[in-house]
Amino acid sequence: LVGRALSGSLVIPAFDEFRDQLDTIFDACRDEASGSVASYIPQLARVDPEKFAMAVCTIDGQRHSVGDDHDSFCVQSTCKPVNYAIAHGLSSADSIHSHVGREPSGRSFNELTLNPAGLPHNPMINAGAIMASSLIKPEESLADRFDFVMSKWRELGGGAEPGFDNTVFLSEKATADRNFALAYFMRENGAFPPNTNLMETLDFYFQCCSIRIDVRHMAIIAATLANGGVCPTTSQRVLDAESVRNCLSLMYSCGMYDYSGEFAFTVGIPAKSGVSGALMLVVPGVCGFAIWSPRLDRCGNSVRGVRFAQELSKKYSFHSY
Ligand code: DON
Repeated sequence: LVGRALSGSLVIPAFDEFRDQLDTIFDACRDEASGSVASYIPQLARVDPEKFAMAVCTIDGQRHSVGDDHDSFCVQSTCKPVNYAIAHGLSSADSIHSHVGREPSGRSFNELTLNPAGLPHNPMINAGAIMASSLIKPEESLADRFDFVMSKWRELGGGAEPGFDNTVFLSEKATADRNFALAYFMRENGAFPPNTNLMETLDFYFQCCSIRIDVRHMAIIAATLANGGVCPTTSQRVLDAESVRNCLSLMYSCGMYDYSGEFAFTVGIPAKSGVSGALMLVVPGVCGFAIWSPRLDRCGNSVRGVRFAQELSKKYSFHSY
């Protein structure tokens, strides 16, 4: 970072100015008063709806954060791109996509539906994320698999320690009839690899949703994705470039549930939301953002998060086209 700064080749040279402008956008989004916190998981329903935080990390490691940036939250569905990229890195696009599609479903994140081939539509909705989770080291014990995923969150976040929310995990598991139904529906259609342990797969998926981090950590992860899989703060290659490219393609087309098309149209960058109100934005080759604000719109996306992304895209030429 110092080398780049001295040679004048920073990706965002006037970072101080950028930071101030981001704070202005952040403050403007605070007024957004609509939406309500997720209620289908009791422990999520208890989160303070007014929490609001934002962080950014550039691909050369310049960072900034604002608001409740030291508060951690459950990653929820923002674990989906991470699990997909991990599973991808362990095999290949062809092998993963013989179990999960890559088309938007146009349906809600937990819709009980499969594509015409009897597979989940894509890895960014629940069914596809359960499938991607089943493909991460299925031959190993659940403990080793979860350790492995946690080590990836650590490396993607430049060494920051992820936490685990056991209360959310238990609460989620106790209220997961739909996810159980999705898993049985996929098994009935022969979508899983042979010998998949359904109960272990679901536990593993719920555990991944219950990982806790803060926006500063999540912004570094988004920046690692923006940087082709190399963490900007440690220079460690955590994911291979092809896994990241395919992950970003799916985040672009499917990352915002049934708002994905509208988001791609108006904001134009890869993103992934979660019902905790987390939102990860990736500006490839430039930077990654994380926003956390628990009030959600009817699709399950953070109201302030979406607004922030839209304002960001109006202000800067981050849109892909
Ligand atoms: O599978 C579920 O129901 C959740 N634990 C994760 C879903 C999620 O975050 C959907 N988000 N908008």
